[in-house]
Amino acid sequence: MVKVLEYVFEELNSVPNFPETAFRALRMLEDENVNFHDLAKVIRYDATITANFLKLVNSAYIGLRRKVESLTQAFALLGLNQIRFFLIAACAGQYLNRPLRGYDLSPYEVWLHSLGCGVFAELVSEKIKAEHQDHIFTAALLHDIGKIVLDLFVGGELEVIRELVEEEGLSFMEAEIMVLGTDHAVVGAELLRRWGFPQEIIFAVRAHHDEDWMVQNQTSAVVALANTLVNLLGIGMGADGLSYRIPPALLKTVGLKDKELFDVITEGFLRYQNLKENLLNK
Ligand SMILES: [Fe+2]
Ligand SMILES: [Fe+2]
Repeated sequence: MVKVLEYVFEELNSVPNFPETAFRALRMLEDENVNFHDLAKVIRYDATITANFLKLVNSAYIGLRRKVESLTQAFALLGLNQIRFFLIAACAGQYLNRPLRGYDLSPYEVWLHSLGCGVFAELVSEKIKAEHQDHIFTAALLHDIGKIVLDLFVGGELEVIRELVEEEGLSFMEAEIMVLGTDHAVVGAELLRRWGFPQEIIFAVRAHHDEDWMVQNQTSAVVALANTLVNLLGIGMGADGLSYRIPPALLKTVGLKDKELFDVITEGFLRYQNLKENLLNK
């Protein structure tokens, strides 16, 4: 097992850095009244991000009469969370948008799961008027990023992990730990730490399957709840989509009542379907 762990951390070293430009832009987007011209000035220095951003916006909004040709034009069309979404997608797409063999997920499903989690996290944050909505949304989009690194190793071990889940009744995470010595939440958090993401986002990613940790603060609780809801609804569910439940303490930390949870599920599903149609043209 020690050998596998060594490989995992070696693999982390080979993942490229998260672009500095995108960080600066995400930091600026923490201000609700961000000036779009200033934001464009920061992003446009990175030609790749700018090109990807515009490509994504144009392919998502194919119904637009005119092609979006500049960043400021795009910002005027999008809400702050959508700008965050496209910004992360423009940089992280290269990491997220690849098939995860070990987890039985296609790139499309991976995106749907991330997107769904973002949608539910955003909706819950609005309902409870969460303090750090921007961090919640970013953490929700990136919460399973550790699967990408682990997938390289889970691939060969998936059968063993599956057997443990099916025959021994372990959760997918417990089986990951038994077979690999680590799990995708730990690896994802470590990757985001290396990339220099804020501590609150790293913690939410680390805690998203841990029932004791997820209730430590509002951000981690909302991300964990969003992930659970998305899994319960079967959005982008792969091999680990087994046995999800909502721990009562989680709802309490988030601050949602049962009735509100019901509204979140129905509203969230509609919002997700809508976004999926508009954003991904599917
Ligand atoms: Fe996860
Ligand atoms: Fe997830």
